[in-house]
Amino acid sequence: SAAVENDLVETLFTEKQIQDRLGELAQEIERDYDGKDLVIVGVLRGAVMVMADLARALDRHVEMDWMAVSSYGSGTKSSGVVRILKDLDGDITGRHVLIVDEIIDTGLTLSWLTSNLGSRGPASVEICTLLRKPEALQMPVEAKYVGWDIPNEFVVGYGLDYRERYRNLRDIATLAPHVYS
Ligand code: PRP
Ligand code: MG
Repeated sequence: SAAVENDLVETLFTEKQIQDRLGELAQEIERDYDGKDLVIVGVLRGAVMVMADLARALDRHVEMDWMAVSSYGSGTKSSGVVRILKDLDGDITGRHVLIVDEIIDTGLTLSWLTSNLGSRGPASVEICTLLRKPEALQMPVEAKYVGWDIPNEFVVGYGLDYRERYRNLRDIATLAPHVYS
């Protein structure tokens, strides 16, 4: 609607570009995990869209599990402390785990999650992220599958929110400064 569009500056990635890129990543994942048992772990809540679309782009069996984590201090990542709000439902011992998120910003979430899941005796732990902001990275995170690197701008849509809004946009867009200033 016009009301939402007024809050956006520029479309970075259209729905079609996102689906095409996820299709490419899905092919890489199919090839890399051929013959292997695979669990994809979505990071609630932002990863809901990319999990749904990546999973459906995968032409193979895959288990879908979910975690919810939160930084202490209502959204601020500065403390570097992460806690589990919802843990996996399944056991990942001896299994290949692919963590799926929509963005790596400071890297805190996925750095912590990779180490947490890695301590549970999985066969492997890798990361798939749709977006990554190299300029914002503060923690070491190695993502095996990356949709795109983007500049350090405020982006919303396709799971990415600003104060819980805009997650449901089909495209990914930059947020107008009047919204957050
Ligand atoms: C956002 C985003 C990533 C994370 C990236 O999640 O969905 O999971 O931040 O930032 P980082 O690399 O600096 O950790 P958030 O914790 O805001 O919760 P949400 O997924 O529910 O929006
Ligand atoms: Mg998130």
